[in-house]
Amino acid sequence: MTTRAVARGVGHYLPDRIVPNSEFEESIETSDEWIRARTGIERRHFAAEGQTTSEMAALAAEAALKMAGMEPDDIDAVIVATSTADLTFPSAATMVQERLGMTRGFAFDVQAVCAGFVFALANANALIASGQAERVLVIGAETFSRIMDWSDRTTCVLFGDGAGAVVLEAAEGDGTNADRGILATDLNSDGRHKDILYVDGGVSTQTTGYLRMQGKEVFRHAVEKLAQTAHASLAKAGLSGDEVDWIVPHQANLRIIKSTAQKMGVGMDRVVVTVQDHGNTSAASIPLALSVGVARGQIKQGDLLVTEAIGGGLAWGSVVLRW
Ligand code: ACO
Repeated sequence: MTTRAVARGVGHYLPDRIVPNSEFEESIETSDEWIRARTGIERRHFAAEGQTTSEMAALAAEAALKMAGMEPDDIDAVIVATSTADLTFPSAATMVQERLGMTRGFAFDVQAVCAGFVFALANANALIASGQAERVLVIGAETFSRIMDWSDRTTCVLFGDGAGAVVLEAAEGDGTNADRGILATDLNSDGRHKDILYVDGGVSTQTTGYLRMQGKEVFRHAVEKLAQTAHASLAKAGLSGDEVDWIVPHQANLRIIKSTAQKMGVGMDRVVVTVQDHGNTSAASIPLALSVGVARGQIKQGDLLVTEAIGGGLAWGSVVLRW
């Protein structure tokens, strides 16, 4: 017998304000046509003034708990993947705990930028496999609109705000890749690439800063590393690309998504794509795509999924799970 971390519920929250590409045409030299052609993005959501990451995270969590048929106090651990927490401390996760009315368990944040949700899933899996927790709420939530330099057309058109959440629960499997739950994880980082994607501010420099990116360099690494990590986690699970029902990729750029799927030998009819509607929501993008994929009826119980993501650090990784 093997203890598996099985998804019991998923949910998401998107702020009300939808910003189409055309809105940027008024303030910077860009066009709807350029943004669509280079990124696949058509619109994104931006948080309302005063709306915080933990607020959106808690709303996504409530939806996931509802699907799981669980109460907040059924949860042993809350992990929030975010680079845009409300405050320097405490963690967004403890704020979610408080917002949900939880009176027990433990909570912490994971910061691996756009790969954050994959890192959080791997941590949740380890907590469940070790017996430290039975039920873990894993959330990705971001307000990247707060770290945009609105005069930089190479970055400000790419990102959006939102949150997604998954409830994982321990269940006994027979130890084969036919089990439901997380089957394999693969995590990587390489700090030598820290300067190609970063925020030029932070607590110890007493500024908030703005996101800075060498887009072409990030693109090059993404295309190479995402297929590599997906193959690595599939190999750990004793599986290959043709057995995958759905790739649920980090939603940064449609061209990156297509190229990774191609390298994995998976057709685009088996890829969950939401980037056109959400833009890049960093750590929120995978749980948002999972939630939308389930709501659309694409992802069904028993399907084999691969999630993969790369972000600042660079940090990248993948998770293979049977839904
Ligand atoms: N509108 C119009 N023109 C633009 C815009 C814009 N919004 N942005 C850039 N351009 C211009 C450039 O200035 C350049 O003009 P020039 O030739 O006169 O110098 C031209 O378009 C081409 O620019 P490139 O940077 O070469 O365009 P590219 O095809 O590489 O696309 C993009 C840029 C979309 C940013 C791409 O490189 C990309 O998607 N990179 C990956 C980014 C990414 O995924 N980041 C997230 C990673 S995850 C995380 O942790 C946040």
